[in-house]
Amino acid sequence: MTGAAPQQTDVEGVDGGVGLTALLVAAARAIETYRHDSLAQDVYAEHFVRAAPACTDWPVRIEQVPDGDDNPLWGRFARYFGLRTRVLDDFLLRSVRTNVRQVVLLGAGLDTRAFRLDWPSDVVVFEIDRAGVLAFKQQVLTDLSAAPKVKRVPVPVDLRADWVTALTTVGFDPAVPSVWLAEGLLFYLPSTAETNLIDTVDRLTTGGSALAFEAKLEKDLLAYRDSPIYTATREQIGIDLLHLFDTGPRPDSAGDLAAKGWSTSMHTPFDFSRRHRRGPLPAPNDALEGNRWVFAHKAHKPRS
Ligand SMILES: C[S@@+](CC[C@H](N)C(=O)[O-])C[C@H]1O[C@@H](n2cnc3c(N)ncnc32)[C@H](O)[C@@H]1O
Repeated sequence: MTGAAPQQTDVEGVDGGVGLTALLVAAARAIETYRHDSLAQDVYAEHFVRAAPACTDWPVRIEQVPDGDDNPLWGRFARYFGLRTRVLDDFLLRSVRTNVRQVVLLGAGLDTRAFRLDWPSDVVVFEIDRAGVLAFKQQVLTDLSAAPKVKRVPVPVDLRADWVTALTTVGFDPAVPSVWLAEGLLFYLPSTAETNLIDTVDRLTTGGSALAFEAKLEKDLLAYRDSPIYTATREQIGIDLLHLFDTGPRPDSAGDLAAKGWSTSMHTPFDFSRRHRRGPLPAPNDALEGNRWVFAHKAHKPRS
């Protein structure tokens, strides 16, 4: 668990830059999966970590971490990802209990929800990420002979480019209600790309659709620069999250959605740690303090 090679931010796959963060989340999910009190299970997660040359010495079990739960990265931060996975699993499964049949994972990374959640059989899961990340993911899943539980459509495209054509060309239907997820994504995008993404989700959704996303309060980037979570991630695995985050002013996406008529609710991760009685609680100098999980629902249009 020593430092990795110097960080490059323009790498397309999972070998470096923002793609490597997908492996960080996968390692955290692997660790969460085998905890005695796990909040979410992802049996594929450890295979991604083991298949990637960039992280051969990363742990996939908490027992492999010398200081265990006291380790800020593989203890507290990994538990954060476990909690986030569970909360967003629950959100998605709740959403498809209605007539929502399309699921769009934005910046899907190594998310295996199409393989591990019990969806209604007619659901379609669209996974958007950059081509290199999705190619690595496919290779690992193919090697495992993994079969998705529902129709799964990878959409290799950069979310800073015109991704609408890519999504609609592979069958996404804006007239059918959908649920969208931007988990661990928006703070890597320039603010114009985030604003465009939120506008586009609004444009591509009909009443009854839903969206969850993770945001960071702007002050987080300034106030918690030396937070143990950021420091441990940089020193132990060479990922400098502060360097990867977009440093421009953040848009108020929850406010923008509310202005477009969506109902929104915003939570801290700690709200859910308390609910599940597991997961991170507030700590001094804590990068997680600025994280917000936003849940948004688009109302049905009143009949005229
Ligand atoms: C921290 S990972 C999160 C992955 C996944 N949502 C999860 O929680 O497991 C961030 C993901 O966003 C993707 N991403 C970042 N910028 C992107 C962009 N401009 N276009 C498409 N995907 C992007 C990365 O490739 C990476 O897979």
